[in-house]
Amino acid sequence: MCEITKQPEIKVATGDRAILPEGAKTIPIFVMGKKYDVPETLTIMKAMEFAGFKFLRGAGCRGGICGACPTVFRMAGDYKLHFGLACQTVVEANMYLAQIPFFPANRASYNIEEMSAAADAIHALYPEIFRCVACNLCTKACPMEVKVMDYIAALKQGQIDKAARISFDCIQCGLCASRCMGEIPQYHVAQLARRIFGKFIQPRFEHLVSRVKEIESGKYDQMLDELTKMDHETLKKKYVEREREPDLSSLGAWKPKETQYL
Ligand code: SF4
Ligand code: SF4
Ligand code: FES
Repeated sequence: MCEITKQPEIKVATGDRAILPEGAKTIPIFVMGKKYDVPETLTIMKAMEFAGFKFLRGAGCRGGICGACPTVFRMAGDYKLHFGLACQTVVEANMYLAQIPFFPANRASYNIEEMSAAADAIHALYPEIFRCVACNLCTKACPMEVKVMDYIAALKQGQIDKAARISFDCIQCGLCASRCMGEIPQYHVAQLARRIFGKFIQPRFEHLVSRVKEIESGKYDQMLDELTKMDHETLKKKYVEREREPDLSSLGAWKPKETQYL
């Protein structure tokens, strides 16, 4: 006997892209003070799109990397402010939220080629780091769990390498600066520290230097020329069939069968 399966009723909720299967659980959130019912499993970014918002700015990678989607929220009945990335944070019922896609933090102009490993230039370009009162609000606001106050403290002491390492996971979202009573643009200062670290402090990797020389000498020109002339299908096949180093091979233990480019 043939049984006709009842298709779930699709109903359109708020927003032009919002299609909600019947029975899906929704929760109320508040965007810029207005209430929207959104599916409980969505990230803030997807929930806002469900509610009809369109991201022209304030969204980039959607993967927690670019720092374009910082969001501030407060739960109903709670005094505490929370911070997160809209593309990573899942909505909760009665969340009052606002996006801060850009924070107008001071960014100094400099030519990295004219700098050195000394911290004096950082102190001259960003004297406001000495206004830090060690309140730690910046660290509490950071969605990447970077110890922001600690890298500012390191820079005050001239420890560029330490600041570069502590701030390595910074994605430049600006939430730290939005909380700073010293009006310090922490992430721009840390970015300068990492640039100085990379250029003047970190030892040069010899294998990288020799590979750049090989590229400059034209060693790979013919191969690149062949690849760029291939049609799409051949290129795809070549990519799928390429030799790959095993994930867990120990250093130097693996060599490809094709050795002409080694
Ligand atoms: S250090 Fe500041 S800018 Fe960097 S990820 Fe954390 S809050 Fe964002
Ligand atoms: S928020 Fe500003 S003043 Fe407070 S610890 Fe961070 S850098 Fe210092
Ligand atoms: S969109 Fe890039 S971090 Fe959220």
